[in-house]
Amino acid sequence: MRRERFIAGNWKMNKGVSESLEFLDKFSVLLEQGEDIPDAVSVAIFPQAVNIVPMADHIRSRGVNILLGIQNVHWKPSGAFTGENSIPCAIEAGAKLALVGHSERRHIFREDDLWVSSKYLACLEQGVEPLLCVGETEEERNRGLTEDVIERQVSAVFSHDPGIMAEQERILIAYEPVWAIGTGLNATPRDAGECCAFIRELLSGLGGPSLADRSLISYGGSVKSSNSEDYLEQEEIDGLLIGGASLDPDEFYRIVCDAF
Ligand code: 13P
Repeated sequence: MRRERFIAGNWKMNKGVSESLEFLDKFSVLLEQGEDIPDAVSVAIFPQAVNIVPMADHIRSRGVNILLGIQNVHWKPSGAFTGENSIPCAIEAGAKLALVGHSERRHIFREDDLWVSSKYLACLEQGVEPLLCVGETEEERNRGLTEDVIERQVSAVFSHDPGIMAEQERILIAYEPVWAIGTGLNATPRDAGECCAFIRELLSGLGGPSLADRSLISYGGSVKSSNSEDYLEQEEIDGLLIGGASLDPDEFYRIVCDAF
């Protein structure tokens, strides 16, 4: 049986409140005119943190089946951490998910594996579902290190405490090769599928085959409506994490429909 589908838009540092609500209006009209999102498909948006409250209110009032997530969190629930997002506050605002280890956080903001694993653990402890992002740089790929990097990034989160895995109903991971993000250079569906299969094998080794089978592994990196179906056709790719193409409601809707 096919696993659930997971389609998410990472808006990064784009869209203010009015543009975000306009997007939701247009997206819900498209859903009303077309098909509603089936239960087997989760659709999520990760807007800027300041937009979560108004978007959550809007989603509730329009009855749209979209989950909201936060792009970055700190592991402490509160305190003197200027500029960071608290998980309990994000939950109160309406976030159900949190991105952890996105390549822009790892490479621009220098988050290392220890930070990523601390954030992941904090999400579980404080009650928001983490979506772990992993992926190699172009240099690492050229040096044949893709699997080593993925294994290091996955193990950093799960291997030191198997209890972390036992607590979870499923694990959400996005394979996002750094060289494919925002560049228009996407991994071939076959390569992306093989990396997602490799991640599932790692999860199986760490947490057992049943947890690995329930887990949802997505691909991200220059996904558009013109290539989304090719990725979703791959047996091992359960979903997509989309940057640029998720900013346009028509384009995002076309991609979401490919998952139905
Ligand atoms: P693009 O789809 O713009 O390449 O971004 C991918 C991404 O970083 C999603 O998290």
